[in-house]
Amino acid sequence: MRKDVKPATWAAHAGGATDPNSAGIVPAIQPATTFLRDADYELINSDNLYLRPHNECVRHVERMIAQLEGAAETLVFPSGMAAIAAAFRWVPNGGRVIVQQGIYWGTTKWIREFCARRQITLDEVELRDLNTLAEACATSADLVFIETPSNPWLVTVDVAEAARLAHAAGAVLVVDNTAGTPVLSQPLGLGADIVMHSATKAMNGHSDVLGGVLSTKQEAPVWEAIRTDRADAGAVMGPFEAWLLLRGLRTLPLRVERMSENAMRIARHLADHPAVEDVFYPGLETHQGHEIAKRQMQGGYGGLLSVLVKGDKENALRVAGRLELFLRATSLGGVESLVEHRFSVESHTGLPENLLRLSVGIEDVGDLIADLDQAFGQ
Ligand SMILES: Cc1ncc(COP(=O)(O)O)c(C=O)c1O
Repeated sequence: MRKDVKPATWAAHAGGATDPNSAGIVPAIQPATTFLRDADYELINSDNLYLRPHNECVRHVERMIAQLEGAAETLVFPSGMAAIAAAFRWVPNGGRVIVQQGIYWGTTKWIREFCARRQITLDEVELRDLNTLAEACATSADLVFIETPSNPWLVTVDVAEAARLAHAAGAVLVVDNTAGTPVLSQPLGLGADIVMHSATKAMNGHSDVLGGVLSTKQEAPVWEAIRTDRADAGAVMGPFEAWLLLRGLRTLPLRVERMSENAMRIARHLADHPAVEDVFYPGLETHQGHEIAKRQMQGGYGGLLSVLVKGDKENALRVAGRLELFLRATSLGGVESLVEHRFSVESHTGLPENLLRLSVGIEDVGDLIADLDQAFGQ
């Protein structure tokens, strides 16, 4: 398929993925774990020897995401955490990594334990402004990891500046772009070396596939190590999940547009609400990173926002308990809206007890606002 088309066109056509055998306009799922050789013992299809290193559905997904992300190459993993682990495993024992504070708790937890096991120095830095990163990057490092906009604080980090600082320290910059999505932001174009996604979120968008993604700006020794490790360690996504992910990706630009519009309307509505103490959303002019977000996100600010409910934990739980359209469940980026009381899941990380995280879906925004109003008691 021509590559000079807009992302929505590329996505709707799944990057031209079809089934050459049947002439079907969607690719087939090939679940075989092993592949035939001919009588001379040559592989009949030289791409396919055994399922563990790679598979056809995954190749379609990878081609499609690489184009959306502006990447030289993309690798798909069985979960977002598997992708993050792969992005870190090449760091040598005794190395040094710098990680943004207050990001998705599962990421922080895994990185802390990994670094402790491997005698890797870990510096966790607050990135509401980049002075702390500049200080941390005064000493050489192997890897800098940031998440923008972050989950659940929506802290928005200047990727171009983070890349400049990371590179001055000799480090590779990895950006978790899960909340941003490749539709709204392309960190590789801003200077990041590797971009990461939990494909479980907006990329798939239907809350029915677990997946992770790494994409590289260019071929490099670190990328080569990640690619080899994925194949050898067997961390590739299976064909059924990849097929579903490909289907989800077809509507990614459309879904992200609608989620972003809905989230913007809801953020503005809640910012003026008497029962709300604060709203964190990069689209609000009052947000810490609004100017940065305006520069590095195009077409919207995503579907994720956090709200401080006036009062205490009980007030927040009461609002969550009354919501009907926002389902009470973890995760984000699906077509259906979700609400999460993060303190109930990570009470030890210093999150406020009155914080509710909203993942805004593609429903009618009037219905969503009415649901929030009745839950907040207005
Ligand atoms: C920002 C972010 N990164 C990474 C992950 C991990 O992804 P997964 O759940 O697909 O392993 C999550 C999961 O919530 C996330 O929110």
